This record gives sequence, structure tokens and C-alpha cells, in this order.
Amino acid sequence: MRSDEALADPTQTPAWQRLAALAAAPGKTIRELLDADPDRVRSLTHSGARVHLDLSRQRITDEVLRTLLQLADEREVAARRDDMFTGVHINVTEDRAVLHTALRRPADAPLVVDGDDVTSEVHDVLSRMAHFAESVRGGAWRGATGERITSIVNIGIGGSDLGPAMAHVALEAFSDRSIAFHFVSNVDPTDLTEALRACKPAETLFIVASKTFTTLETMTNAHAARRWLVEALGETAVERHFVAVSTNAEKVAEFGIDTENMFGFWDWVGGRYSMDSSIGLSTMIAVGADGFRQLLDGFHAMDEHFATAAAEENLPLLMGLVAVWNRTFLGIQTTAVLPYSQYLARFPAYLQQLTMESNGKCVRLDGAPVDYETGAIFWGEPGTNGQHSFYQLLHQGTSTVASDIIVVARSENPLTDQQDMLVANALAQAAVLSRGRTAEEVAADGTPAWLVPHKVMPGNRPVSLLTVERLDPFTLGALVALYEHSVFVQGVIWGIGSFDQWGVELGKKVAMGILHTLQDGTSPAFDAATDASIGLYRRMR
Ligand code: F6P
Repeated sequence: MRSDEALADPTQTPAWQRLAALAAAPGKTIRELLDADPDRVRSLTHSGARVHLDLSRQRITDEVLRTLLQLADEREVAARRDDMFTGVHINVTEDRAVLHTALRRPADAPLVVDGDDVTSEVHDVLSRMAHFAESVRGGAWRGATGERITSIVNIGIGGSDLGPAMAHVALEAFSDRSIAFHFVSNVDPTDLTEALRACKPAETLFIVASKTFTTLETMTNAHAARRWLVEALGETAVERHFVAVSTNAEKVAEFGIDTENMFGFWDWVGGRYSMDSSIGLSTMIAVGADGFRQLLDGFHAMDEHFATAAAEENLPLLMGLVAVWNRTFLGIQTTAVLPYSQYLARFPAYLQQLTMESNGKCVRLDGAPVDYETGAIFWGEPGTNGQHSFYQLLHQGTSTVASDIIVVARSENPLTDQQDMLVANALAQAAVLSRGRTAEEVAADGTPAWLVPHKVMPGNRPVSLLTVERLDPFTLGALVALYEHSVFVQGVIWGIGSFDQWGVELGKKVAMGILHTLQDGTSPAFDAATDASIGLYRRMR
């Protein structure tokens, strides 16, 4: 368990107070920092697990960085990291270990937690998944009428959807193209209906992915999918067309799925940290068991880097500390994730859950309210598309937005010089956001004086540049683990619980109450605004 000292208010640490003073003092701009120190880029660029992180375009001086590292010491980040890796119940409000790092340990690295070797349990499930995935890919697993499976529909939501859906797009170049993948998450009936338009019952396999197997959206869609299948092929077809990914064997059996076709995981895997558990079954079917192993190896390489690299070169630690600096000390509210890779189109959405469900908290672990800013808002779109949409505000808006620009050096689809164009745009944006463009520079182009102010770019927008050579299963795993651990570092510094989500739970409960009222026809007795909205809906539906 954490020492009382580490639970205490982070604002009372000497490093925190020094950082507050540094942030309040007039500082150099990113342009000035870059121009003053020819060694800055080298000293602020670090690599681990095939990911290169360049922090030279952040508003950090040597002193800020030193003090952030001191803050990490004072908050005992390394000890907390070791607690997480060894299965201490750091998810305090749910009294659970947080062991997603165990999902990617090699088979020969046992880890005993609460008396069980979790590595061997993980590898047992991985072997069952591999057998199943390869039999679907190879055609040994067939539908009830003997047809090969050509469509996979993953039904899940939140962590049981976003990771697999993101990975499906990210790893398309490595995927079996003879199988079409669909991801149904929304309780809006349109989601399932539209997905099923493209599917033939005899060739469709449903993966019902739900840790709890009680989530309203997922169970509603799963039952609707079951009706669709049974109408076409009869009740006996269910066992060949439905498999489950869950921790809840009882509910899976109740639904009518043979628990032989259930792939388990454990309560120590949080939903948003589960894409590398059996929740990734669709990913394994797409990229094969070997490809999935490479994904896990990438995750594990970043885990090892986080556990062993020196603090000054430790990517997740530095990224997490810079995130705290930007959010809490510089007051920057949002981070735009801008992948210059179409394959990473769903990465910002994936990171939204990872970051915001984890660190969107206003109470510390000791129950005291925080009086400082925590989790930033994450959002984004792939470049270059975003450039023609919201970048205007990034450049000249009145809010400062921090950006993570992600560059993939080698394209899986080289077409003439398009990859050079893509990367040129990424680097141009990194330069313009961070350095800006002064009135003198604009005027020097021959711009008339009246137009000059409109073309000035304030710059000084912080940018982290992440570069990988290729986007393959390994680097995808490493990238996700980098963000996972950065989120962890931020949570430890802020003293909040990054692994629960009570805010989400309450919404589910209130929705159920409203649903009952909508369906039983009784007069609503919530608050005046909700009651009025229910009335309007009833008149319009
Ligand atoms: O959205 C809240 C949440 O609890 C997430 O944390 C989780 O990923 C999601 O619901 C889905 O839960 P389950 O996998 O149990 O269906």
C-alpha cells in the first residue's frame, strides 16, 4: 500500500511549489529556447521500444525538467510503478490489482500475485485464443451450415470496443483480407442494423466482448444479433456463430454461449487497458497469432523500458511529466493527437477513453478534493485532414492547445511521393505551431502592412513529436503502452485513482431509471428539466 506521505497533497512538495513559481515567471518562448541551445533537440529526444520522442518543442527549460524529475521522486513514481507491475492493489476504490502489464509478459517470466502465477494463466488463454483464431482464419471453424466465416462482428463498448476497433484500422496492412470486420458498440439500433446489412448469417461470427457481460448496450445488441441469426439459421446455430470474451462465465452461459467458446480475463484488467487481453480476439483473428504476439512484444518492450530506463531518458515518465507541466502548471486544457498516418485514424478516439476515463478525476485517493487541474481533454484527427479543418484554431485561436504529432516514417502503401508530402506536412505543422511566425517575417515576404497582423502566428504551442519507423503490430503495442504509462505517471503525480470510473457508473444507473419510466408509461418524477424532456420525447416518438 502507499505510504501516507505519498498519499498527501502533491502541492505541498517542494518540487511542486518550485514548478508553480517557474510557471508564473516570464519564460522564454519555444522559439527562443530552440534558437539559444544547439544541443536542445539532441538532449530532449529519447528512444525506447522503437519509439522516438522529441520534446524539444515543449515549453520546458533544463530547470523545469530537473524539477519535474524531482517531483516524480517526491511522489515516489518509481515505487508506485513497481507496485503496479507486481500486483499491489493500487486500484484503491475497487480494491484491485492493476496488472495489464502481465498480459504481455513472455511465457518464461512467471509472476505470482495473490498466490496465482498470472503469467501461466495469461498464456493458457493466449493459447486457446491462438487455436481458435487460426481455425477461423484457416477455415477449420465453420458456421452451422458448413460455410467459412467471412464476417466477424465484435459487439462491445468502451474498452471492449475502442481498442479492437482502433487496432483493426491500424493493422489493416497486416490483416487477413478475406474476412470483413465490423465493430458494433452503440445502443442506437442503427449501428447493428447497418453492420448486419453487409453480413450473411451462415458466414458470420459474433464476438460478444464484455468484461462484465451486463453492459446495457452490449447485451442489447448481442440479443438482437442472436435473434437475427436464429431467424435465419435456427436456435442450434448459436454455438457455431457466437463466442464470448468476458470475466463472467455465469452470464455467458445464461446467454447461451458454450463456455468452451469463452475467452476469459481477470478483474485486474481495466476495460480501457484490455486490448491486449482476450478482448483483442478480433485483432488476433485479423493479424494471426504471430502478429498478435508481436503486438504483445511491443507492449512488453515499452513496459521494460518504463521499468528500467533511467528517469532522464524514460519515455513514459517524461511524457507524463510534460503532460502534468502543460495541464497543471501552464493551464493548457487540451491535447490534440495528430497522427500522420491514416491507419491511426481511430487512435485519438482510443486515447480519449484511456486518458480521460483514467484521469478525469477531481478527488484525490485520500478523498480530498483536488485544488489543481488534472486530466487534459484529448481529441484529434489524422493529418493532413485535420489541417483543413480545425488547425486554424491551433495556430491562431485564443486557447493554447498542446499537440502530439505522430509520424510514421515508412508507408505500407508507397504511392509516388505521397509519403514525403505527408511527412513534410507533419514537420511543417510542428515547426509552425511551436515557432510561430513574427510580424517581421511576414512583412519580409512582401505582405502589405494592413495584412501583416492577420498572418502573424503566435507560435509557442507545445508539440511532442513521436516518430516510429513503421506502423506494425510491435510499434502499435509500444505506442499504446507509452500512453498507458504516461497516464499512470500523471495519476501518481496528481494523487488521483486512474483505474476506476465512478462518473461513468452513475450515468448507467440514471439511464436505467429513465428507461423504466419511458417504457412503463408512468409519470416521470425526476427533476423538472428531465421530466419535461421525457414529455417531449413521448409526444414525438
Ligand atoms: O464506459 C464505462 C465502462 O465501464 C468502461 O470502463 C468499459 O470499458 C466499458 O464500460 C464496457 O464494459 P464491459 O466490458 O463490462 O461491457
